[in-house]
Amino acid sequence: MRTPVAIIGAGPSGLLLGQLLHTYGVDNVVIEQRSADYVLGRIRAGVLEQVTVDLLHEAGVGQRVQAEGLLDDHFVIAFNGQVHNIDLLARTGKRVTVYGQTEVTRDLMNARAAAGLSTVYEADDVALHGFDGSSPYVTWRKDGVEQRLDCDWIAGCDGYHGVSRASVPADKIQTFEKVYPFGWLGILADVPPISHEIVYANHERGFALASLRSPTRSRYYVQCSLQDQVSDWSDDAFWAEFAARLPAALADKITTGPSIEKSIAPLRSFVAEPMRFGRLFLAGDSAHIVPPTGAKGLNLAAGDVGLLSRALAEFYKEKSSAALDDYSRRALARVWKAERFSWWFTTMMHRFPENGAFGARMQIAELDYLMSSEAMQTAVAENYVGLPL
Ligand code: APR
Ligand code: PHB
Repeated sequence: MRTPVAIIGAGPSGLLLGQLLHTYGVDNVVIEQRSADYVLGRIRAGVLEQVTVDLLHEAGVGQRVQAEGLLDDHFVIAFNGQVHNIDLLARTGKRVTVYGQTEVTRDLMNARAAAGLSTVYEADDVALHGFDGSSPYVTWRKDGVEQRLDCDWIAGCDGYHGVSRASVPADKIQTFEKVYPFGWLGILADVPPISHEIVYANHERGFALASLRSPTRSRYYVQCSLQDQVSDWSDDAFWAEFAARLPAALADKITTGPSIEKSIAPLRSFVAEPMRFGRLFLAGDSAHIVPPTGAKGLNLAAGDVGLLSRALAEFYKEKSSAALDDYSRRALARVWKAERFSWWFTTMMHRFPENGAFGARMQIAELDYLMSSEAMQTAVAENYVGLPL
């Protein structure tokens, strides 16, 4: 088997890359270790920057996000019992779209199937070979049978725990990491959301976030200890803690109900440099992780594959590798800015036990300043709606 581009991983990065390449006339094969249902079972942030929505349109999968996505022209910051707006539209002329990442993945999977593109699910022991030379290939086992795919390029879109980054010799890669001393406990519930806008709350009991998937489905989070287990948190305990961390004006709007999903996620910042190793490119979570405050993960992944797909298209159409040679530099310049914003927003909104009462006062001073300064609101809004590709 041979294809121009072998894509490892069928998450949002791999599927969007595959679809963009298809629209540019570049064939590709996606190799994924899990089943399609497993991939669709993951629940992740649902705030899309306009750059991401534009790329979905470019990939031919913009119809449903356009029809069903909720447009938000501001988001909410709560602290000291008060509710404040960051007016994205007034400050930047842009909005964000609330649309679940699971739905993005579903739309891309459907489009891939409709286009007849080749996807291998449940591939075991995926391995990358020869990307430091001119004839890379990928091997895996499917139903016990060894398979081989020869290609021109390999795109490592297989997430933080994937095989692609792990295949790079240690002396060729540099990594940067910060692990935060808490996690997020999240629940999904079929109850009307407290607001159509996303609410980020700083509270002395810890951070809370109100988000949504639709007018009838809410996605809420509270900062929790890394020692906590999901089984430590009954639905009642979650609702009580969530309400305690919101100003009364918002807490009064909570409709409680049974959770349909509940999970704890650790928070991490991580970047690998560079994002190219010979004929292997990294994109999305395989190259970088942001803490979810600000919902940059999917948007960064979309930016990476936007750059990579155009660079690959240029290689095949114009026989030029200039854009491929510049991919890592351009992607990383954008990645580090989103890393900075996600780290800053996380730092300003969460309780850090080791920072004590002084740290908490610094957060309130910064939040007070933010709400009094149009200049700072513009800077925050500009980052929240997303930096240009
Ligand atoms: N071989 C093949 N596939 C693999 C392997 C492997 N060895 N290891 C992991 N995968 C698959 C995973 O099963 C997953 O489906 O790669 C895919 C990676 O998907 P994601 O983890 O979603 O990463 P990415 O597509 O880069 O998504 C970036 O989505 O998950 C969020 O926080 C993330 O928002 C960010 C965005
Ligand atoms: C979510 O909808 O899950 C979500 C929204 C905003 C964030 C993080 C997660 O910053």
